[in-house]
Amino acid sequence: MTEAILLVGGKGTRLRPLTVHTPKPMVPAAGVPFLTHQLARARAAGVEHVVLATSYLAEVFEPHFGDGSELGLHLEYVTEGEPLGTGGAIRNVASRLHSAPDDPVLVFNGDILTGLDIRALIDTHTSFGADVSLHLTRVTDPRAFGLVPTDADGRVTAFLEKPQTPEEIVTDQINAGAYVFTRSVIDTIPTGRPVSVERETFPGLLADGAHLQGMVDSTYWLDLGTPQAFVRGSADLVLGRAPSPALPGRRGERLVLAGAEVASDAKLTGGTSVGAGAVVGAGARVHGSTLLDGSVVGPGSVVRDSLVGTGARIGARTVLDGAVIGDGAVVGEDNELRGGIRVWCDARLAPGSVRFSSDR
Ligand code: GTP
Repeated sequence: MTEAILLVGGKGTRLRPLTVHTPKPMVPAAGVPFLTHQLARARAAGVEHVVLATSYLAEVFEPHFGDGSELGLHLEYVTEGEPLGTGGAIRNVASRLHSAPDDPVLVFNGDILTGLDIRALIDTHTSFGADVSLHLTRVTDPRAFGLVPTDADGRVTAFLEKPQTPEEIVTDQINAGAYVFTRSVIDTIPTGRPVSVERETFPGLLADGAHLQGMVDSTYWLDLGTPQAFVRGSADLVLGRAPSPALPGRRGERLVLAGAEVASDAKLTGGTSVGAGAVVGAGARVHGSTLLDGSVVGPGSVVRDSLVGTGARIGARTVLDGAVIGDGAVVGEDNELRGGIRVWCDARLAPGSVRFSSDR
């Protein structure tokens, strides 16, 4: 039986205000909590038992996913009193694993959308006899990431913090947030205190001569840690660019959940998703965006690459471009919000109060 640990306890600070009321893995992407896509992909790869390591807003996971049987999984939940960090969280759930000391155990960050071949990662781990194997992905601009160079056989040679100078960019390979641990290696992580798997466990294992194997897999990969990435990921799921067995409908230009009301002349394109009970008014154009349950986009509005939170209302003729509107916020008519703006939950913006152009 293949087991997996899913790390879902982070505060998701970069994703605020989406994570004010909802932990990051529970924010809906393409119509279902993001975590659903990860669980369904794990199931499709043969995983049967998943332990969720929760901390921030821990209470919302179990009422939604229960024992996991609807997804064909056996799910368990372990909550940290104080956040233990990524490594501490892995160690903290070890007692729930059934695997033998030499068995491979999968570990996933709860905010990564990827087409990774999970079986291939396990096979790599087993065939190399590694202690830990890591999914690595290549990025064009590695400056924001920790770098993971490997030798000709794919064995990890170092873990480098975010590079500051061009000379420090020795590889374009980064840690992609999916690992296979040999079960007994998890037991070596210290208990009872915060541990970062990236900054402490992996470099420590390497220094001790452990075998850390990298597997570069360059299929779809996106870290949904920021609002713009989250919106992109949701649209890619709807479009079918990012694979998921859990999409609640057919892939295409749009996904409209049951109970949404979309005006007949409104245009929904670019992987837009419209949640249950959401309303899109006459003549509105919505591209590449996520409208969560019960939200309203007024007539004549233009929404692009944006997210409208649960129950938030956008007035008529308003423009959103790269904007995130928190749950319950009200943006009056004739506003123009662009460029990564974050409107906090329940905020009120008067009609015509924010413009980027002088055309009022
Ligand atoms: P930011 O605050 O925006 O950086 O997001 P984050 O809190 O999710 O942190 P990060 O993206 O570095 O975390 C990577 C993964 O580990 C995510 O899936 C988090 O949910 C998870 N994670 C981070 N810290 C903890 C922790 O202390 N406990 C548990 N259980 N999971 C954690």
